[in-house]
Order: sequence, then structure tokens, then C-alpha cells
Amino acid sequence: MTKPKIGIIVGSTREGRFADHPAEWIAALARDHGAFEVEVLDLRDYPMPFFDEAASPAWVPSKDETAQRWQKKIDSLDGFIMTVAEYNRGPTGVLKNAIDYASNEWNNKPVAFVGYGGVGGARAVEQLRLIAIELQMAPIRNGVHIQWAVYEPVAKGEKKLADFGFLNDTAKGMLDQLAWWTNALKAARAKDGQESKAA
Ligand SMILES: Cc1cc2nc3c(=O)[nH]c(=O)nc-3n(C[C@H](O)[C@H](O)[C@H](O)COP(=O)(O)O)c2cc1C
Repeated sequence: MTKPKIGIIVGSTREGRFADHPAEWIAALARDHGAFEVEVLDLRDYPMPFFDEAASPAWVPSKDETAQRWQKKIDSLDGFIMTVAEYNRGPTGVLKNAIDYASNEWNNKPVAFVGYGGVGGARAVEQLRLIAIELQMAPIRNGVHIQWAVYEPVAKGEKKLADFGFLNDTAKGMLDQLAWWTNALKAARAKDGQESKAA
């Protein structure tokens, strides 16, 4: 079986976002891990309007061309890592919107989370785990939570996330779990004839 392909979804698009730090860090660790082909999906490259389609994309094809491109991209991937900022104790609007703009393309695939913020994005990550279940995804138990004591020196440019050994160890545990689930679900989808339409 070929290496599974995972997408690292950069979950914030605002100017000056912190999100680039976790995205670049986890992408490098995922590539070094060796289990995956890794692609970074920056939501700035998929500027979709607020969801205003006639129905869920599970039922009615999206009219928006960027949404169609997004759906094809999600369909082509076997698993995901989302960088998760916490906005008012929930995920960012732009990430939830991007999630809503696909449906079947997420099914039977795993998703892992790298959260950051006052409590490491934990409250937003927990909400995303519930959302993932509706999308018939497997949210990975191990998560990375970058708390303020790490966030601050990294945001100020005094340190890099890779300088924190305990975070690298935590990420390794999450990537090991993600590799297991990605391989297991890729094999199960292939057995059921659910290969990506885009592949
Ligand atoms: C609208 C808004 C709401 C926020 N709410 C929270 C929050 O509830 N909990 C938290 O830990 N941080 C909160 N923050 C601070 C963010 O964690 C911090 O700004 C972080 O850098 C946001 O991610 P980003 O820079 O990648 O967009 C909030 C920030 C914004 C802009």
C-alpha cells in the first residue's frame, strides 16, 4: 500500500496569525515521522464565502468553485491534522466554515489536533472532536496543546516550538496514533471500494 497522504489544515487566516508556528512545526515532524506524505492546506488559499449553499454538500453539489476545489482536495487525502486556535472558547469561524463545506469527503478518515491558547486550545479542540463524529471521522485521542507559557515566547520570536522537548514528544505520540488510524482506515476504505474519487 502506498504511503497515506495527510493534510495539515491551517485553521486561522487572520493577518499576524500564530497558526503558522504550529503548522510549520507539525508538518516538519510529520514528514520526519516517515509514515505519511504531508501537504499543508492553508485556508487562505481556499477563501470560501460563509456557507450559503442550498443544502449540505452531502446532498447538493456546491456552486462555489473554491468549495468544489476544497472538496476535491479533502477527498484526495487520507487523514488530517488541524491547527486549532481558540476564539471565544470555540474553533475559528473560518475553520468551521471549511469543515461545513465538505461532507462525505471527510468520512471514515482520522483527524488529529494541535491546539494553542490560554488552555492550549483545549475547549475548541473538544468541540471539534464532537463535530468530527458527525462527519464520521475518527478523532485521535492524543492531542497537542500549546499553552500560554510556550505560546508567548514563540509568538515573541524568542523561542521555536521545536525547542520544547516535551511538545515534540507529545506530537510523536499523536503522530504514531494518527499513522495507525490512517493506515487502518485507508485499508478499510479500499476494501469497501471507498477509494478517493480524486486519486
Ligand atoms: C476573537 C478572538 C477570541 C479569542 N478567544 C480566546 C479564547 O476563548 N481562549 C483563548 O485561549 N484564547 C483566545 N483568544 C486568543 C487566541 O488564542 C490568540 O489570539 C491566538 O493567537 C489566535 O490564533 P491565531 O493567531 O492563529 O489566529 C482569542 C482571540 C481572538 C482574536
